Amino acid sequence: MGRIFLKGGTIMAPLPAALVTSGNVDGKKSVLTAAWTGIVNTRPPMAYVSVRPERFSHGVICECGEFIINLTTSKMAKTVDLCGMKSGAKLDKFTKCGFLTEKGRTVDCPVITDCPVSIECRVREKTDLGSHTMFIADITGVTVDERFVDSKGKINLQQAGLMAYSHGEYFALGRKLGDFGFSVKKKKHGGS
Ligand SMILES: Cc1cc2nc3c(=O)[nH]c(=O)nc-3n(C[C@H](O)[C@H](O)[C@H](O)COP(=O)(O)O)c2cc1C
Repeated sequence: MGRIFLKGGTIMAPLPAALVTSGNVDGKKSVLTAAWTGIVNTRPPMAYVSVRPERFSHGVICECGEFIINLTTSKMAKTVDLCGMKSGAKLDKFTKCGFLTEKGRTVDCPVITDCPVSIECRVREKTDLGSHTMFIADITGVTVDERFVDSKGKINLQQAGLMAYSHGEYFALGRKLGDFGFSVKKKKHGGS
């Protein structure tokens, strides 16, 4: 079997389909679905989101300089898709989707409380790349649904039902295959 060559394009999978919120929980706010989002540095912890200038969210992120990346679950798939189809310029998506929100701990933006993990970000750099503006941000705090944090403080997202986005399609994350480093971990010998 051969391989098909395609010209350069935006294929990368799987990706998150995150709900990125911005603005003020009690005032002007925005929410959009974003797949162009992720982590870009460990120390200091940094994240990015790339947003087209024509999005309502773009103006709100520019104005307040903060956003929250809310990770989504398969139960939320239809809502996530809707937030990627409709603009906050014409529709109050928070009311339409019935989102329960609370203020972030380190930023004023809304945390969507149905989301298992919310990553609070303060914009450090804004780069116009062409179609999108990339907002690079410091991660100033993270909140996690307490159901997914064990008594030792370990975050376990296996039961969170996270969803993924893969080239135009949404998927529920499936079977666990191993832990970080399992390929090189020494086996414990059972007595012999
Ligand atoms: C799965 C999915 C991923 C998306 N990813 C992005 C993205 O990374 N950046 C972006 O600007 N728009 C993205 N969009 C489109 C916006 O979510 C959409 O235009 C939305 O209506 C903008 O809302 P707003 O105008 O209220 O900001 C995505 C849409 C979907 C459905």
